[in-house]
Amino acid sequence: MRRTKLNSIMYTPKLELIIADITTLDADAIVNAANSSLLGGGGVDGAIHRASGPELLEACREIGSCPTGEARITPGFKLLARYVIHTVGPIWHGGNNNEEHLLKSCYINSLQLAVDSNCRSVAFPNISTGVYGFPKDRAASIAVTSVVEFLKTPSSIEKVIFCCFGNENYDLYKDLLNEK
Ligand code: APR
Repeated sequence: MRRTKLNSIMYTPKLELIIADITTLDADAIVNAANSSLLGGGGVDGAIHRASGPELLEACREIGSCPTGEARITPGFKLLARYVIHTVGPIWHGGNNNEEHLLKSCYINSLQLAVDSNCRSVAFPNISTGVYGFPKDRAASIAVTSVVEFLKTPSSIEKVIFCCFGNENYDLYKDLLNEK
């Protein structure tokens, strides 16, 4: 494990943990925690649409909707990132509505789209842990486990960045990644 930028810790050549505004990251792809309409919203969805510019909404309109657990890719337009991967996380309804499987699918499907576009670096926000109310500890565990499992298969991905937006998620990820 080595520290790079402030709050940024590299755990292996492939995993990085950071507290940052995801729209500022120079990754090949950043992942958006969208809703099924893909027409924007608040939280990280709103931030990404604001930073990317109006062309992002046009590109999303052409795609149409996206089911929960799935992902769609668009250019990043004004963002530093070449691509935005829009994934729709599950809304937490207590844990008996397939939420954990759907959240895992968001990570796997987003990574697969990144590989299909030959991305070397991908940054994830903490999907579903804001408005959608997914318990942060369970979401962090699903995120780390899913990504580590996916990276066992060789691909174009050289780095996955877990981009937290606050200390609570950051500390949860730090504990999980220290176990890896
Ligand atoms: N950079 C990184 N992370 C961010 C940023 C940002 N600029 N802004 C917010 N976040 C974090 C939140 O703090 C939270 O930890 O992203 C995580 C996901 O929270 P939400 O954005 O609320 O996303 P989610 O819980 O998946 O709910 C999705 O919210 O914005 C709407 O249109 C979106 O309907 C969808 C729903």
